[in-house]
Amino acid sequence: MLCILDEKAVSESKTVMTQTVFPNDVNNNGTLYGGRLLDWIDTLGAIVAKRHSRSAVVTVSIDSLNFLAPTRQRDIVTLEAWVNYVGRTSMEIEVRVSSENPITAETAKNCRAFLTYVAMDEYGNPKEVPPLKLTSEEERIRFEMAKERRSERLRHRDLGAVEW
Ligand SMILES: CC(C)(COP(=O)(O)OP(=O)(O)OC[C@H]1O[C@@H](n2cnc3c(N)ncnc32)[C@H](O)[C@@H]1OP(=O)(O)O)[C@@H](O)C(=O)NCCC(=O)NCCS
Repeated sequence: MLCILDEKAVSESKTVMTQTVFPNDVNNNGTLYGGRLLDWIDTLGAIVAKRHSRSAVVTVSIDSLNFLAPTRQRDIVTLEAWVNYVGRTSMEIEVRVSSENPITAETAKNCRAFLTYVAMDEYGNPKEVPPLKLTSEEERIRFEMAKERRSERLRHRDLGAVEW
């Protein structure tokens, strides 16, 4: 069945999440536990993917994560996420994480992540998503870069399947 969906702009699903680092979020060094941050990243990424596709989604891939600077207890953590690229049923979401010391106002860039989600229909099959409406040069560059990452990801997936 041919189905033509209306384009959606990046701004329509862009989402910001703010968290505070509590004692139960830190590791033995007093810095934010990586698993907790990954949980927040994946939760936010899925919200953006759901808002773009207006359907259920599953995470199919998370690119390597680099923790660039530590986040400490009491810090305010801001996660910003948006769609970089959409294929037929998949979406690449970028998440950027920064932190702020609430007392000194000192800020840091902590982490950047790329996640891929697939929209699912009510039977659990991949479902077509709206094309992305690119409205700026920056969005066009992000789209092209994401397209290259996507090819690399699929190449790695196929290599992994052969080696396994
Ligand atoms: C997501 C899933 C349904 C895809 O199934 P599949 O048989 O690979 O389906 P398709 O080949 O039609 O691929 C669907 C889309 O995913 C993309 N995709 C599949 N594997 C991918 C990977 N490793 N990285 C990036 N994209 C991937 C495909 O390129 C395709 O995108 P497109 O439609 O935009 O071109 C299946 O892999 C799955 O259920 N995985 C488990 C998901 C899960 O449990 N996540 C954790 C909890 S949410």
